[in-house]
Amino acid sequence: MGKIILTGDRPTGKLHIGHYIGSLKNRVKLQNEGDYEQFFIEVADAQALTDNFDNPQKIRDNVIEVVLDYLSVGIDPQKVNIFIQSEVPALTELTFYYMNLVSLSRLMRNPTVKSEIETRGFDNNIPSGFLNYPISQAADITAFKADCVPVGEDQLPMIEQTNEIVHKFNAIYGDILVIAKALIPNNDNEGRVPGIDGKAKMSKSLNNCIYLSDSPEEIKKKVMMMYTDPNHIKVEDPGKVEGNMVFTYLDLFVTNEHFAKYLPEYHNIDELKAHYQKGGLGDVKIKRFLNDVLNDALSEFRTRRSYYENNIEEVYRIIAEGTKQANIVANETLKEVKEAIGIDYFSDDKFLKEIKGKFSE
Ligand code: TRP
Repeated sequence: MGKIILTGDRPTGKLHIGHYIGSLKNRVKLQNEGDYEQFFIEVADAQALTDNFDNPQKIRDNVIEVVLDYLSVGIDPQKVNIFIQSEVPALTELTFYYMNLVSLSRLMRNPTVKSEIETRGFDNNIPSGFLNYPISQAADITAFKADCVPVGEDQLPMIEQTNEIVHKFNAIYGDILVIAKALIPNNDNEGRVPGIDGKAKMSKSLNNCIYLSDSPEEIKKKVMMMYTDPNHIKVEDPGKVEGNMVFTYLDLFVTNEHFAKYLPEYHNIDELKAHYQKGGLGDVKIKRFLNDVLNDALSEFRTRRSYYENNIEEVYRIIAEGTKQANIVANETLKEVKEAIGIDYFSDDKFLKEIKGKFSE
């Protein structure tokens, strides 16, 4: 049997180029390599509610935004099954049975959850749903018997938690669940893309994102206000490339063809960097170039997005169909799980025979 790939995102906002570099790009690559049996992408709305339960409209609005982001970067619904978590009830049921296999102190020890509790200021009023979301994520993964989970490094504790549940479940009830392996981006840069202000992380709350759906005008505005080298004041000044966001983003997106097309006086990024470091190259010039490069990269996404925005019923059908398929697979696993535990009372007449044998003489 081939690989089963599953990954997902919380629909709490539009996706940005950090998501693209850190994960979407790799999903498209995996999809096009075709080395898998099934490929699922989950819109994790139920998980998003665990810390946004008081703002459900935000989640509802962003479900479609995130799906449009997937489709715009080239996720092909013929090859990948996109589904909505809350519309697959088996996931919630599995979560309930897995909760028995995880202690409260184990949940409290999860480093990702720990730091999230801090940033959200839950203190001692942690909603139990929130504390349990790693268990629900284990349900997401195991329901599809996924053995390959492409995620960022911050998700490693979730995969670890999932596999502990798999081991414990299989030891107690029999070999049903499958061990999952995380697929982590290998290069540092791919792990975390900094914001346009130079802060360590591109994030909606820091208001320093370049969104996949940004218009050319928005891109231009953001590039022009981007953090470069504060000591590079006059064009003649030597400039720093490290920590300079223009070069950070060029490193992620530029190709030698871009030089031929927009800056033929240089052949590649190394020549451009060398000139900047030596002095004599102004910020406006490199910013104009980055603007061209980013718009080239995003224009393909824009074309697809506008197709899907103009055919939004097609998008609706894609997620409805994807969710239907997801239910078929997850229900099959739930059936096996209930059988293994012995709570499959009405699925055949085994239970009826048993009680008859016991009570009719
Ligand atoms: N926790 C993931 C995130 O915050 C989203 C997610 C939910 C997920 N279920 C998943 C990722 C299953 C991988 C597999 O980004």
